[in-house]
Amino acid sequence: MDRKLRIGIIGCGGIAEAHANRYMQRQREVGDIEVVALCDIIPGKAEEFAKGMGIPNVNFYENHVEMLDKENLDGVSVCTYNREHARCTIDALNRGVNVVCEKPMSVTLDEAVAMCKAEKESGKILSIGFQPRFAPDMQQMKEIVRSGDLGKVYYIQTGGGRRRGIPGDTFIKDSTAGLGAVGDIGCYSLDMVLDALNYPKPLTVTAFMSDYIGTNPDQYEEAADFSVDDFAAAFIRLEGGIIIDFRIAWAMNVDTPGDTVILGTEGGLRIPSDDCWNGDFCGDMTMYKTVNGDNIEYTIDRLPDDQRQSCWIGKIGSFVDAIKTGGPSPIPTSQIIINQAIIDAIVRSAKLGKEVEVVIPEI
Ligand SMILES: NC(=O)c1ccc[n+]([C@@H]2O[C@H](COP(=O)([O-])OP(=O)(O)OC[C@H]3O[C@@H](n4cnc5c(N)ncnc54)[C@H](O)[C@@H]3O)[C@@H](O)[C@H]2O)c1
Repeated sequence: MDRKLRIGIIGCGGIAEAHANRYMQRQREVGDIEVVALCDIIPGKAEEFAKGMGIPNVNFYENHVEMLDKENLDGVSVCTYNREHARCTIDALNRGVNVVCEKPMSVTLDEAVAMCKAEKESGKILSIGFQPRFAPDMQQMKEIVRSGDLGKVYYIQTGGGRRRGIPGDTFIKDSTAGLGAVGDIGCYSLDMVLDALNYPKPLTVTAFMSDYIGTNPDQYEEAADFSVDDFAAAFIRLEGGIIIDFRIAWAMNVDTPGDTVILGTEGGLRIPSDDCWNGDFCGDMTMYKTVNGDNIEYTIDRLPDDQRQSCWIGKIGSFVDAIKTGGPSPIPTSQIIINQAIIDAIVRSAKLGKEVEVVIPEI
């Protein structure tokens, strides 16, 4: 493709800055794209964003459909709050525009299914924004699990969170976010371990969710507006006899719910990964093995800091490259729909107070 790819951004809030930064870097360093259009439903917000980010020669919109109809875009970043992911993504795909959509993929499984159908019918690329996949820590962990060194993996404890760290604003309202901690940071912990296992099919989930701290005005200043979860725990059965024991918190009365632990028949891996949204672990991994009858353990060194490139270069770069080569999607919906189906089952199970089946419709 000789001409520059025309890129748009829908939703000019906090995370759109990371998208715009990487597009602008690519525009400067490779010169094969240009950011031509920005959209936000809040009047003036897209203009302010362009000014703040130093994005020149760009058109502004308050309606994403109008932008999609007028701009002849090759690719768009969907950076809205969660409740608008499905609508904006489907509208773009239906108009033949490739999409990188922020995580979580959607709020409900029904929305994720509709997104996958639009992707299939359009023949365009839909990539979901799990940037930690491009981080060296994550890649090293995935290599170890996939190498077979652990034997058959049968139990995983994962999740994480913060003693206090509720984001605020659009993140805490059901009308905009639809999901709290489970959708915001829980999806990362799930992606970390499910991707390492090559996304086995989920079978059942039994879960609990709460909002005790978020709704308590003595503990959280925006409690009056809080209408999502601040904590979730789940017991997830996957095909192949694998269990995920999961817990995630924006706020809890302890510092950490524990490291990610992967147990296999031939070894175990401990991964200090409390808050893994940026792809970094918060310490070295430890491997546990039995060699010639001796129980041994050793540390797996992480790459030095100066060798860690930002995982955002991979996230945006892989999307642009996929548009240029015609795919495949770098972070495919065939995997992430499973992540979303588990989150959907966590919500259903927590509401019903009992175990639920996970059924993912054929696309
Ligand atoms: N990948 C990451 O590391 C990361 C980090 C933070 C947030 N996120 C995700 O990014 C998304 C946005 O988060 P944020 O912090 O930027 O939120 P935000 O509230 O700061 O920004 C969202 C923006 O989208 C706009 N918007 C909503 N619906 C729209 C529509 N239909 N058309 C145009 N604009 C619309 C809102 O007006 C707002 O300005 C969330 O889904 C969040 O989970 C990802």
